[in-house]
Amino acid sequence: MSKKKCVVSLLICALSLVVFNNSDLKPKHTNIVFLKTHKTASTTVQSMLFRFAERNNLTVAFPKPACGHQFCYPNVFSAEFVHPQTQPPNIIANHMRFNRHELQNLMPNNTKYITILREPASMFESLFAYYINHAEAFRRVPDGFMETFLEDPLQYYWPKEDNAMYVHNTLTFDLGGDKDRPAADVAYAQEFVAEVERVFSLVMISEYFDESLVLLRHLLSWDLQDILYVKLNMRKESSKKSLSPALSQKIRAWNTVDAHLYDYFNASLWVKLSELGLDSVAKEVKHLRQAQEKLIKRCFGGQMPLLRSASEIKSKKLRPWQPSENVGIVGYDLPSNISLETKELCLKYIMPEVSYTPMFLHSHLPEPPPLKKKPFSSRLLLHSA
Ligand SMILES: *[C@@H]1O[C@H](CO)[C@@H](O)[C@H](O)[C@H]1NC(C)=O
Ligand SMILES: *[C@@H]1O[C@H](CO)[C@@H](O)[C@H](O)[C@H]1NC(C)=O
Ligand SMILES: *[C@@H]1O[C@H](CO)[C@@H](O)[C@H](O)[C@H]1NC(C)=O
Ligand SMILES: *[C@@H]1O[C@H](CO)[C@@H](O)[C@H](O)[C@H]1NC(C)=O
Repeated sequence: MSKKKCVVSLLICALSLVVFNNSDLKPKHTNIVFLKTHKTASTTVQSMLFRFAERNNLTVAFPKPACGHQFCYPNVFSAEFVHPQTQPPNIIANHMRFNRHELQNLMPNNTKYITILREPASMFESLFAYYINHAEAFRRVPDGFMETFLEDPLQYYWPKEDNAMYVHNTLTFDLGGDKDRPAADVAYAQEFVAEVERVFSLVMISEYFDESLVLLRHLLSWDLQDILYVKLNMRKESSKKSLSPALSQKIRAWNTVDAHLYDYFNASLWVKLSELGLDSVAKEVKHLRQAQEKLIKRCFGGQMPLLRSASEIKSKKLRPWQPSENVGIVGYDLPSNISLETKELCLKYIMPEVSYTPMFLHSHLPEPPPLKKKPFSSRLLLHSA
């Protein structure tokens, strides 16, 4: 409501104030940094942010071509890594190593910072399976078992070599912290947690993904449609392992800073959920899942979709990247008999990151960006997902 109208009608103005206090009617928040962490369901959040940006004509900062589809990770983020034609941005959501100072200079003042963490034991198991052929520390394990690695990690791990960040305190590294602090340095872990809390308005938790989205929706004054998603970049059930409590403990002992982060922010997530009211959160989660079911039905021709391995997916664009033969990353194929309009909508929900990014960048720019012929060599893809 404009000032002029308020002057014209005090009564309407007063009424609108009451109504606008309702969080659902606040303008949607559009300036967002999403720190995309590895192996945490972050691709799903990223693709949600891309869709939101597209619907609202927002500018998304993309990496310049020389950085691949990440901001020259694992280098510490610099504004120089941002494609000049995607500035000034509203949203930034591709992989990077966090750098608060550079982001604060790049982004608008009222930007909200968001990230997502995953339980360290299941996360490490996932990293081990995903990067077994790409991280030297994992390749050195003679029998290729995670258990063997955990017996004596320092026998295999060199902090400074390529891809070491996938082996030790990966969340901490992505957040800009020191992955190699000794486990005994509890003060560092506590300080780091406090720093993350100062900067980030919301730390989502993968294990409570839908609940985290409810908090996200409230934080940003978004509506249900804005947080609608189809899960991306999942592993086949058969390539997942269940972890014994003893093994989980070993993983946590190897990744102590990550474990600190996780425990702290899981607890704080539940405090926030309680503040919102667990009943109303449950209701929202239910609505979200109903909307999701409807979307999936529409996209997959009235039937629930079949998860497929990459080689079975007909459309090349929809094939997720396969890091190794040990891990089946599954995706979806679309039925051929759905309408073009539906297909376009659905593609936006199921496109793997590696296809979505350049297509979106393309549609977004006045002129085609100087993308390399083959922007996704296996070297660049090494850090995806
Ligand atoms: C986005 O831009 C298009 C084309 O310029 C316009 O039709 C549409 O209304 C805009 N949407 C929003 C939410 O601003
Ligand atoms: C950011 O905030 C400062 C002080 O609050 C203000 O002076 C400045 O104009 C703001 N910048 C933008 C881009 O909004
Ligand atoms: C997260 O925190 C809640 C509430 O404190 C707790 O019940 C739950 O076990 C925690 N989850 C994990 C995976 O640690
Ligand atoms: C597409 O084909 C499938 C089976 O082949 C059918 O179940 C579905 O109803 C069809 N969808 C449309 C929109 O025609």
